[in-house]
Amino acid sequence: MIGFLGAGRVGAQAALEVASAGIDDVTLVDIAPGLAEGEAMDISQKIAETGVDVEVRGSTDFSSLKGSKVIVITAGLARKPGMTRMDLLQKNAGIVTAVAKEVAKHAPDCVALTVTNPMDVMNYVVLRKTGFPKGRVVGMGGILDLSRFKSTISAMLDVSHSSITSLVIGEHGESMLPLPRFTSIGGVPLTKLMDETQISQAIDTTRRVAIDVISKKGATVDAPANGIVRMVKAIAWDRREVIPCSTYLEGEYGVKGICIGVPLVLGANGVQRILPLDLEDGEKAQFLKGAQTIREGIATIESTL
Ligand code: NAI
Repeated sequence: MIGFLGAGRVGAQAALEVASAGIDDVTLVDIAPGLAEGEAMDISQKIAETGVDVEVRGSTDFSSLKGSKVIVITAGLARKPGMTRMDLLQKNAGIVTAVAKEVAKHAPDCVALTVTNPMDVMNYVVLRKTGFPKGRVVGMGGILDLSRFKSTISAMLDVSHSSITSLVIGEHGESMLPLPRFTSIGGVPLTKLMDETQISQAIDTTRRVAIDVISKKGATVDAPANGIVRMVKAIAWDRREVIPCSTYLEGEYGVKGICIGVPLVLGANGVQRILPLDLEDGEKAQFLKGAQTIREGIATIESTL
């Protein structure tokens, strides 16, 4: 069973996709009365026609998450136009602290998948409050940033999305680190196909595009849900897929004591191993800038943990 803590826009869309793909049974929990139950009924009625036989339930009862293999945490406030992810810090730290305790109580063996923003800081909160081993706490951000980078490159070069392999690591926030040196178009390095100005333009667009979507439709939903489903599949099916995810570092990439996005092998029980990369000075500086933002975010709420 896959649990969803938060049945708002992102949680409900990801639950719909997990159920529609028949990955596993789904349980949604949300404090808003009726919301999780209503979403579960709606999804159940959809898959009844398409012929997928998984059970979808929803309630306000945290104990219904018992038996979850993965719990996707989207509970919390979302950004409004003009806000950064860090603006959500104080309020979401309180919510995520509360829900992480419920995760540990009712599904002590699950993998916790953090989505709530500011995601890297919230992932750290989940790690601390569940007391889970670090491998069983991962955050979704890099796969979403990567899909935005791919979308931008595809439009600029007029090539199929399917020909692009790319990587975005670092903070899931203003200091994210798209990596053109580790991006290729059907095996041809991106750096052969775009000059520095075009690459900077692609990176700027990738960093900015989420807030454009929020100002136009009120929230980012479909691309984040896709990122969640990729990660859920990797864990539920033990695919050992290489995905940039937020994880707790203990010296890797020159960083210790925080969660941040790096490429890792994701399978049953979460993080199998972190993959190394040789970053150049400029890339390293950007990665460390993001790490510093996360460290400051953690310091702001540390006394409440
Ligand atoms: P939303 O407002 O539609 O849904 C949030 C839900 O959380 C609401 O239904 C609310 O009732 C519920 N909730 C609040 N406190 C709760 C608690 N204590 N227990 C259970 N449920 C609780 O927001 P949306 O758009 O679904 O976004 C959710 C979060 O995900 C936000 O923090 C947003 O910034 C973040 N996000 C992160 C992304 C990422 O890449 N990591 C991408 C997109 C959104």
